[in-house]
Amino acid sequence: MEDEASAIALETRELTKIYRMGAVEVHALRGVDVDFREGELVVLLGPSGSGKSTLLNILGGLDTPTSGTVMFRGQPLTMDSERALNLYRRNHVGFVFQFYNLIPSLTARENVSLVTEIARNPMSPVEALSIVGLGDRLDHFPAQLSGGEQQRVAIARAIAKRPDLLLCDEPTGALDSKTGILVLEAILKINRELGTTTALITHNAVIAEIANRVLYFADGRIVETRQNAAQRAPGELAW
Ligand SMILES: Nc1ncnc2c1ncn2[C@@H]1O[C@H](COP(=O)(O)OP(=O)(O)OP(=O)(O)O)[C@@H](O)[C@H]1O
Ligand SMILES: [Mg+2]
Repeated sequence: MEDEASAIALETRELTKIYRMGAVEVHALRGVDVDFREGELVVLLGPSGSGKSTLLNILGGLDTPTSGTVMFRGQPLTMDSERALNLYRRNHVGFVFQFYNLIPSLTARENVSLVTEIARNPMSPVEALSIVGLGDRLDHFPAQLSGGEQQRVAIARAIAKRPDLLLCDEPTGALDSKTGILVLEAILKINRELGTTTALITHNAVIAEIANRVLYFADGRIVETRQNAAQRAPGELAW
């Protein structure tokens, strides 16, 4: 993303999250202020337990903060209304997780259709699957697809509703490097061609090379950010 002046898609202010487990309090987020610009690709790095998934889930309306605000295109998310969060998720957010959560009894095309049937302005399942390079696997069941192909079906499912935000939590965590690169290429293509603002959590520092910007988490805070002078193509990476 070359345009430094592009608008802010998402911003958080003084975000905290405390999980209370009986008498024990876990401070998962300790005051996070971060902006994501429209069309930006941001990678989140940091040790296990540092708060990455907690932040991603709050950004996507899957979880709510203990305090602080999230603004989507200048409007605060209404955290006390499950219905409002539900609409926000449905209309604006695509999620991709480490495990693909496909329905085994449905084909690739049918898994994607589950989303396109309830979306406002979806692309067709065929189009979504073609974007991720699976135009020739439409009628395969998950068990007939490799792990990387299953993850690309999950990505097609996430992007078929043309979300404004694509939130990916360790999308390559279960994949070997060759397959992981194909999945990253699909995510990057969506980011480029659809302009989808994308946040991607990984444990693999090499993957940060594909980002516009990298956020480093430690102990519930963003402790460092790095703007990449140039993005590297997934195919150039090795791990
Ligand atoms: N539902 C929950 N209930 C209680 N504690 C939680 C819950 N979810 C997360 N935590 C705690 O909050 C902290 C941050 O967790 P989070 O999942 O955000 O970390 P993470 O950076 O994504 O770690 P990982 O890299 O292992 O996925 C951890 O200490 C975790 O144990
Ligand atoms: Mg996590």
